[in-house]
Amino acid sequence: MAERRESLHGQWSGRWAFILAATGSAVGLGNIWKFPYITGDNGGGAFVIVYLVCIALIGIPVMMAEILLGRRGRRSPINTMTHLAEEEGRSPAWKLLGGGGIVAGFLILSFYSVVAGIVLAFFFRTASGVFEGQTADGVGALFGSLLGDPERLLAWHTIFMVMTTVVVARGVRSGLEQLVRYLMPALFILLIVMVGYAMNAEYAAGVARGVDTPFMSGLSFMFNPDFSKLSGDSVLIALGHAFFTLSLGMGAIMVYGSYLPQNTSIARTTITIALMDTVVALLAGLAIFPIVFANGLAPDQSFGLVFKTLPLAFGHMPGGIFFGSLFFLLLAFAAWTSAISLSEPVVAWLVENRSLSRIYAATVVGLITWVLGIASLLSLNVWSGYKIFGMPFIDLADYITANILLPLGGLLIAIFVGWKMKKESVADELAIKQTRAFDLWYVVIRYLSPIAIAIVLYLKIFKVI
Ligand code: PFF
Repeated sequence: MAERRESLHGQWSGRWAFILAATGSAVGLGNIWKFPYITGDNGGGAFVIVYLVCIALIGIPVMMAEILLGRRGRRSPINTMTHLAEEEGRSPAWKLLGGGGIVAGFLILSFYSVVAGIVLAFFFRTASGVFEGQTADGVGALFGSLLGDPERLLAWHTIFMVMTTVVVARGVRSGLEQLVRYLMPALFILLIVMVGYAMNAEYAAGVARGVDTPFMSGLSFMFNPDFSKLSGDSVLIALGHAFFTLSLGMGAIMVYGSYLPQNTSIARTTITIALMDTVVALLAGLAIFPIVFANGLAPDQSFGLVFKTLPLAFGHMPGGIFFGSLFFLLLAFAAWTSAISLSEPVVAWLVENRSLSRIYAATVVGLITWVLGIASLLSLNVWSGYKIFGMPFIDLADYITANILLPLGGLLIAIFVGWKMKKESVADELAIKQTRAFDLWYVVIRYLSPIAIAIVLYLKIFKVI
């Protein structure tokens, strides 16, 4: 058995603290903003099935691998990989896995903060009652005017980055644990309230437009697969989203794993986190698509889907101002806990290698991300005419990170754990010894996950699909 290490940055107080923090990282804009819109853009049911398969066969096994690397290394991802590569007698180049994750983290956080800023703006708008009685066009126009106003976007982006930096500066335990404890359950309950609303109240609006059961239309859009609507790009997006939504492939879960107490079961913990994350995404879809169909909107509204549909429902439901503002507030909190995890790998690394204080490291990271975020927010308006690979900067940052960098990170994690570490080291860290479950997972992480990721990336990069 390897000697047991302690992380320099502290530890979670126990299994549930880790589950909450990792779920806080996983559940965020990816579930409530991105999942419904990419489902809408990629035709619904067939996409959802591919996404669920990716979560089960790739996401969960890779998450176990990423957590076990973190806990074994007990350092920031770059140093964990350097250390484990040395311990296993492998090339020091494996530290590039941690380095790539840092680049991905900056890029994701830069656009994430802009979208989270929009959520904050929507919290105040909903609370002020501007959505009361609005039509779909009215809500769309309000969203459009916000996107077209770089100064307001900048103000919200700045507020969100300051919020994130403050918690990261305070340190994971004192900052984060407290935050997620109440937040996750509250968000969950509110989503169920929204689905309940979508099941009942939207009925009347739908009937008026000849859609007799909007909830069933929403359900069938999400779960009735039509594989002819699935393109090669959809498969890559589903795979990329499995990584994005579970916060995998860039070191966020690795660094959280490095604070995990030694006696916690990684397998059980991972399954709990992945289940909660998936349920939240599906609930978000079930709340949003009935509203889309009841109001005669198109499901493929990309970026704006959540911001154009939910306010419509809040504007018509009893207590809409209350439920609506609460919803956007909780979504902003969920984005906050994810953003914190996005900066943690690089902050931990700066503290370890550059001997910076946490406050200083968090400020440096916050500033760099803030500047990058300005490029994202300007690409929504002033720079919208400038495209790189045919996309505005914000879409490019999202596409490259979620669909290329994170799956690539996941592929390398699977290869390292499946092929480069000794089987005994892996079994020792997972502490499930040589059971059937372990053997099954080991086959998946050695063969199935890396081969599946490699095939999708290869086909996409070489434009076969
Ligand atoms: N999982 C987060 C979400 O679904 O919103 C986003 C995210 C957080 C991605 C942390 C990657 C990450 F490392």
